Amino acid sequence: MRKNIVAGNWKMNTTVPEGVALAKQVCDDLKGFKANCDVVICVPFTHLCPVNDVIDQAVVGLGAENCADHKSGAYTGEVSAAMVASTGAKYVILGHSERRQYYGETAETLREKVALALENGLTPIFCIGEVLEERENGTFNEVVKAQIVDGLFNLSAEDFGRIILAYEPVWAIGTGKTATPDQAEDMHAHIRAVIADKYGKEVAENTSILYGGSCKPSNAAELFAKPDIDGGLIGGASLKSADFMGIVKAF
Ligand code: 13P
Repeated sequence: MRKNIVAGNWKMNTTVPEGVALAKQVCDDLKGFKANCDVVICVPFTHLCPVNDVIDQAVVGLGAENCADHKSGAYTGEVSAAMVASTGAKYVILGHSERRQYYGETAETLREKVALALENGLTPIFCIGEVLEERENGTFNEVVKAQIVDGLFNLSAEDFGRIILAYEPVWAIGTGKTATPDQAEDMHAHIRAVIADKYGKEVAENTSILYGGSCKPSNAAELFAKPDIDGGLIGGASLKSADFMGIVKAF
């Protein structure tokens, strides 16, 4: 059975002391009730060690927001999957649209990152999603399918089974414009069908597919009620524990 997951993506927000305080608050708040889903926070590289020191990963899992597409060596400023894993982190977001758009990440570099993440025992949260023009010109299903095929379908079924997918329509990220629950459900069902075509129904049914893009306490329950939406990848609303808890409680 696939898991329901609510994951925060802090992006480039909070200083280390602010991030440590937020993580502690999230962990304490989660201890106050029984969450009906897994909860993960993905934080800047600088925050991984100090945050790991103050949270209980049985309560809230820890992840990075990226990792390098090389194992080690002369890549100034990069952080490898092995380094991320050595902090105690268990997850890594890969292929976020902001990385594809602003840092030129391609399917080829993402295949390397996914392979290195898996080799180092990290669970990739692999992001896909169309831009507004592709939503409007009707090519969104093909665009998202190509991102999955090109980025992930080199994997064995066993390795694919370790991936979490996050559908994030780029036009809904940070814009306050959420995909309607029906739009999101249609895409999630499409993604599951694409996976089933390649790896079979069982693998498809076991894959967690999260929705991301202006997800907040007021719309999370409606989105998560859809049969193929298995949780959320949360940007802005993960930066306040009360908002994040509001989304966790939608399950
Ligand atoms: P917002 O929730 O701020 O729209 O961001 C979504 C996102 O990009 C999560 O990865």
